[in-house]
Amino acid sequence: MRGSGAPPPVEEAGMTAMYTSSTGWLDLKVEGRVAVVRMARPDGLNALSASLLEDLRDCGLWLQRQPHLSAVVLTGGERGFSAGADLRDPVLRDRLKLPMMERREHLKLGPDVCRAWEDIEAVTFAAVEGYCIGGALAIVLACDFRYAGRSAHFRLPEVELGINMSWRTLPRLAALVGPARAKEITIFCERVEADEALQIGLVEKLVEDGAAFETALARARRVADLPPLPVRMSKEAINAAVNALADTAIHMDRDQYLVTIATEDRREAVAAFLEKRKGAFKGE
Ligand code: COA
Repeated sequence: MRGSGAPPPVEEAGMTAMYTSSTGWLDLKVEGRVAVVRMARPDGLNALSASLLEDLRDCGLWLQRQPHLSAVVLTGGERGFSAGADLRDPVLRDRLKLPMMERREHLKLGPDVCRAWEDIEAVTFAAVEGYCIGGALAIVLACDFRYAGRSAHFRLPEVELGINMSWRTLPRLAALVGPARAKEITIFCERVEADEALQIGLVEKLVEDGAAFETALARARRVADLPPLPVRMSKEAINAAVNALADTAIHMDRDQYLVTIATEDRREAVAAFLEKRKGAFKGE
C-alpha cells in the first residue's frame, strides 16, 4: 500500500500515453513525480538535428500536459551535453532552398523547443557535463536550474558562424548574467568555463565531474516532496515577472535569423568551421 504522501503510479496519474521519441535519441523515464529526459545520439556529440529538435519540442509539450509531475531533469552525455545545432544535418542546411514562407515556418523549430521547455509547469533542471554549445545552451537557459560538472564549458558560437543568436535566447541570457556579460558571451563567442559560469550566474551549482545528473536528480526529488501547487505558482510568477518584456524585445529574432542565415558570410563561416580554418568575412 502506498502512503498518503506517495505520488500516484504513472497510469493513475493519467500518464499512460508516455511520450516516445521518434529518433530513439531521447529517453524519457518517469519515477513518481520526477521525469528524467536524456539525449543520447549514438555518436555522443548530441548535435541538434531537425529530427532531434522535433523530439525535444514534442517531449517538452508532453511534459507540459502532466499535472502530476513536480520536476524534470534534462541531461546529455558524459563527454558533452550537446554540440548544438547539427552543422551536417541536410534538413537544416537545405531549408534555405525552401520557399520563403516554408523557410520562415521551419525556423520556428528552435524557438518552439525552448518555449516548450520554458512552459513546462514542473520545475526543470539541466544537468550538464562537458560541452554545451549554441542551441544546446539556449535549451538549458529555458530550464529553471543548471547544474554542471567541474569540466563543463558553455559557448554561443552563432555570431562567429555568421548568424544572430536567436531562439529567444538573449533575454533569457541577459536576465541571468546581466546585459554586459550577455553581450560578451554572444559577441566574442568564447568558451565560458564552469567556474566562471557559476561566478556570473550562468549555472547555479558546480559539482565534481560526473555528478551533475545525480545532484539534479536529488534536487528534483526534493521538489517532488514539496506541496506541488505553491511550487508551480512560484515558478509561474517569477517567470511572468522576468519575461514581461521578452516578447516585445525579441519578436524579430526569427526574422533576423532568416536574414543572416542567407548571407555570404554565413556560408563562409560554416565552410570555415568544417574545413578547420579561419573565416574571411565581408559583411555580405
Ligand atoms: N555539428 C556537426 N558536426 C560537429 C558539430 C556540430 N555541431 N560539432 C562537432 N562536430 C564534428 C566535428 O566537425 C568533428 O568532425 P570530424 O571528426 O569529421 O573532424 C567531430 O564532430 C568531432 O569534433 P571535435 O571538435 O574534433 O571534437 P572535440 O571533442 O574536440 O570538441 C566540441 C567537441 C563539440 C566542443 C567542438 O566540436 C565544438 O565546439 N563544435 C562546434 C559546435 C558548434 O559550432 N555548434 C553549432 C552551434 S550553432
